[in-house]
Amino acid sequence: MTEDKNFINAFHSAPPPDWALRQHKSILQRGWDFVGAPLRMVVLPDHQSERLRLTSLRAERLRVTLPELQGRVLDVGCGDNMLLRLYRQRKPSDAAKVSVGADVFPWSSDILQITNSATLPFPDGSFDTISYLACLNHIPERADALKEANRLLRPGGRVIATMIESFVGKIGHALWWYSEDKERKMHPDELMGLDVSEMKALLRHAGLTVTKHQKFGYGLNNLFVAEKPLS
Ligand SMILES: C[S@@+](CC[C@H](N)C(=O)[O-])C[C@H]1O[C@@H](n2cnc3c(N)ncnc32)[C@H](O)[C@@H]1O
Repeated sequence: MTEDKNFINAFHSAPPPDWALRQHKSILQRGWDFVGAPLRMVVLPDHQSERLRLTSLRAERLRVTLPELQGRVLDVGCGDNMLLRLYRQRKPSDAAKVSVGADVFPWSSDILQITNSATLPFPDGSFDTISYLACLNHIPERADALKEANRLLRPGGRVIATMIESFVGKIGHALWWYSEDKERKMHPDELMGLDVSEMKALLRHAGLTVTKHQKFGYGLNNLFVAEKPLS
C-alpha cells in the first residue's frame, strides 16, 4: 500500500484544531458550517475543511465520541490513531496510556497492526471501552468482531460506534475522492454504510445492550453506545 506511487494518505495526522472539537458550536460556527456544508461534507478532505475554519467530518465524529470514552480504550479500525491521541491529551490517565489503537492497515507507527478484528491478542475483560468510528461497514468480519468486543470488555464496559446509513454511504463513497478506501484494496464484503436497524441488530447479536442512539451531522451520521451486561 505505502509503496504505491498513487498513495495520497487520507490521514494527514495533524489533529483537528481545538475549536473544531468544542462540544457546543457557536451560532457563527453553525452558520459557517451550514454555508460550507457542500465543501466540508463532500468536496474537501478533513484537513482542508479545517483550514477554512469549517468543522470537518472527522471532527464531527471525534467531538461526539471523545466524551463517551472511559478507562482503557481499544479503538478498532483506528486509522491514524487520532481518537486515542486526543483522548490521552484531553483525559490523561494510566488507563489512557495503555489504551490501544488497532487497524489492519499500518496507517500510523503507534498502532497495533492486526489481521482480523475477530481474534485480538488480549485476555478477557481487558478494556473499559471499545470503539469503532466509521469502520464497522469496512470490517468484513463485523459480527464476529463485536462478539470479540464482548469478550474483551469488562462487565459494564461499553462499545462506542459511529456509522452512516447505507444510502448516505453509497453517495458519499462515490464522491469522497480522498477517502482512505481509495488508497487500499477493498475487501468484497466491505459495505458503504449500515442502517440504524442493522447496527442495533449487530450490537444485540453480540450480547450487548444498546443504551444510546444519537443522530449528528444534520442527521446523516449516528452514534451508538452499547453496554456489556453486568452478569
Ligand atoms: C473510514 S476509516 C475510519 C478511520 C478512523 N476510525 C476514523 O474515524 O477516522 C475505516 C478504517 O477501517 C479500517 N479497516 C478496514 N478493514 C478493517 C478490519 N477488517 N479490521 C479493522 N479495521 C479495518 C481501515 O483501515 C480504516 O482505517
